[in-house]
Amino acid sequence: MIELGSETRDDRWAVEALFDLCFAPGREALSSYRLRDETDPVSELCLVARDDGDTIAGAIRFWPVRVAAQPALLLGPVAVHPTHQGEGLGAALIQGGLEAARDRGWTRVILVGDAPYYSRFGFHRIEDVIMPPPTNPNRVLGAELVPGAWQGLAGVVTRWD
Ligand SMILES: CC(C)(COP(=O)(O)OP(=O)(O)OC[C@H]1O[C@@H](n2cnc3c(N)ncnc32)[C@H](O)[C@@H]1OP(=O)(O)O)[C@@H](O)C(=O)NCCC(=O)NCCS
Repeated sequence: MIELGSETRDDRWAVEALFDLCFAPGREALSSYRLRDETDPVSELCLVARDDGDTIAGAIRFWPVRVAAQPALLLGPVAVHPTHQGEGLGAALIQGGLEAARDRGWTRVILVGDAPYYSRFGFHRIEDVIMPPPTNPNRVLGAELVPGAWQGLAGVVTRWD
């Protein structure tokens, strides 16, 4: 039985190890990581999926960013251990995180990822929003937690502070 819960301080290195396992080496060199430098994730939105033995099978983090000075959430990383992929954990983590974000008043979410996967959660290409280079613009996706939240918003994604 897998249960979703908050990422605690003690989970930090297990979550980092899971991300290292699930992503290609050098993930922290990706341009999206520059938006996370010297910024803390939004802790109440960072979730883990634990199995019966308390091992972390999946995790998701969210970071605060700005788009044209307006607040937005950067979704990611999200990863599920290879032995648990395809069981719906990714969907549970993403939906759980998005619901928690909406409940806390966030209105828009951005990520860099595969549209065929994220479209099921309401993400679509946001053409006028620019991630730090080099980022493939076709992979810059946004979701509205409040209708119209991305409407008319254009510009560069920058760090929160
Ligand atoms: C992407 C990831 C988080 C999905 O987690 P998961 O628990 O396996 O996903 P779910 O069980 O909720 O959904 C599985 C479905 O998503 C599909 N899917 C997974 N990754 C996909 C992708 N990149 N593009 C399109 N579909 C994808 C699967 O084919 C499966 O489809 P089905 O329901 O038709 O069988 C997981 O595969 C993972 O950790 N991958 C490595 C890290 C990664 O790429 N993270 C995302 C960065 S953008």
